[in-house]
Amino acid sequence: MTVATNMEPQSDPNAEPMISLQHIYKSFEGKEVLRDLSIDIARGESVVIVGGSGTGKSVTLKHIIGLLRPDSGHVMIEGRDITEMRPVELNRFRQHFGMAFQEGALFDSMSVFENIAFPLRRHTKMTEEAIAARVEECLEQVHLHGVDGKRPSELSGGMRRRVGFARAISLKPEILLFDEPTTGLDPVISDVVADLIVEMDRTLNTTTVTITHDMKVAFKIADRVAMLFQGHIVEDGTPAEFQRSENPIVQQFIEGRAEGPLTDGTNE
Ligand SMILES: Nc1ncnc2c1ncn2[C@@H]1O[C@H](COP(=O)(O)OP(=O)(O)OP(=O)(O)O)[C@@H](O)[C@H]1O
Ligand SMILES: [Mg+2]
Repeated sequence: MTVATNMEPQSDPNAEPMISLQHIYKSFEGKEVLRDLSIDIARGESVVIVGGSGTGKSVTLKHIIGLLRPDSGHVMIEGRDITEMRPVELNRFRQHFGMAFQEGALFDSMSVFENIAFPLRRHTKMTEEAIAARVEECLEQVHLHGVDGKRPSELSGGMRRRVGFARAISLKPEILLFDEPTTGLDPVISDVVADLIVEMDRTLNTTTVTITHDMKVAFKIADRVAMLFQGHIVEDGTPAEFQRSENPIVQQFIEGRAEGPLTDGTNE
């Protein structure tokens, strides 16, 4: 049973999806990675995309943020087709997004403070005082204290991820994208990071898309789980529906079995 909360004001069935990928095709050097991929993500929803290594999960995320253009198909964000935007417009539009890349992708030559301040300096005319306050707020949100002056290399992997999250939210984005937020972290820290994503999604009221191949993380943070296989979404449902799926591809993935349709050689 899902518990209704007062944080779900967007039950209007006619509301436009926040993110709509429509019939996306994408090949690299003749190799088709995305083939007729479609998915709609509602405002405020937390969707997790799972799938094997090299199936195109990161490529999908890069389409959402406009870092890659589809060969055909449309990427609609709040009803606007970003595949038709000019680079300048797209750049401005990207400020709606907070993206936490694999491994954090922090600048190692900068302090934690400067890393988080970077988007603020670049995209706003905030005063130093306002920037300092905002950086503090972002660090607070990810439960980090007293690390402002440190270099990313001085922090643990879990802390670096959190700095990456703090930077991703500095411009108060409406959409948060996480690419493999827990890869390389031990199970306990993974769980802490997953909890933090849930908390951020709720308190910041964002639409959140996360990529992971950790099913425990996926089930924890997802309103919906979608599985990518052979270039498109083969299953899409709530964590409970996903777990009950009779699709053998999904079952093999959840169970982490070596034998099955995922690995029978037909997916190349
Ligand atoms: N810019 C690019 N140029 C050429 N090929 C690319 C490019 N980006 C991705 N690919 C190819 O597209 C395929 C999918 O890559 P992608 O990074 O999306 O996989 P993934 O599902 O994120 O995998 P992983 O779980 O390992 O991160 C791979 O075969 C990759 O080599
Ligand atoms: Mg990837």
